[in-house]
Amino acid sequence: MTSSSIPVITIDGPTASGKGTIAARVARALGWHALDSGALYRLTALAVARAGGDGGDEAGAAAMARGLDVAFRDGGIWMCGAEVGDEIRREAIGNLASRVAAYPAVREALLERQRAFRAPPGLVADGRDMGTVVFPDASLKVFLDADVAERANRRHKQLKEKGFSANLCDLLEDLRLRDARDRDRAHAPLVAAADAVIVDSSRLGIDETVQQVLDLWSARGLAR
Ligand code: DC
Repeated sequence: MTSSSIPVITIDGPTASGKGTIAARVARALGWHALDSGALYRLTALAVARAGGDGGDEAGAAAMARGLDVAFRDGGIWMCGAEVGDEIRREAIGNLASRVAAYPAVREALLERQRAFRAPPGLVADGRDMGTVVFPDASLKVFLDADVAERANRRHKQLKEKGFSANLCDLLEDLRLRDARDRDRAHAPLVAAADAVIVDSSRLGIDETVQQVLDLWSARGLAR
């Protein structure tokens, strides 16, 4: 099986649209691999922060991205032997990730690492540019959107459940800024691929959204 014959479903969308959860559930339902590409940008940001950087140095951030010592295993995300799954979800790291992700050299450094996740029997990849840049030949491309107030509510709930303090107004402002930065950047901006199906999850629950994606996949007649 050549790499390009391995099916890929891409799920792109803005911050907190639920794409990570949906992608993981769709992957589980199909028995496929999952790629959380945002985690790679967050890990790069964590490496930059730990080295005392503030995201202002493109070459430095790209070197960090190239040298990342990471493993996705046992349901966790490991960097240099320590589990960092919760740490990379912090808002400060998310904001720094959005800044370093605007650098072409960082995106280039992470490109092949992302494509290496394409393995039999298939891959569900979520992010911002999965359908436009990383897997342009994907069999199904979904653009998962939700209105910003709903996304802020979801993120607020998520952070509370994890025991982090969070202010809804600050989160809303933060999401707006991050959306603008991800959408307006010159390289690989957040945009639906021309051949993507747009799914608005503002008024859909997780189960319904997962089912919509699985139905879209079945409708392609490619489901096995
Ligand atoms: O999906 P996320 O919130 O974990 O992503 C964190 C940041 O990484 C996001 O603000 C933009 C960036 N990102 C990106 O530029 N391209 C991707 N494919 C995934 C994430």
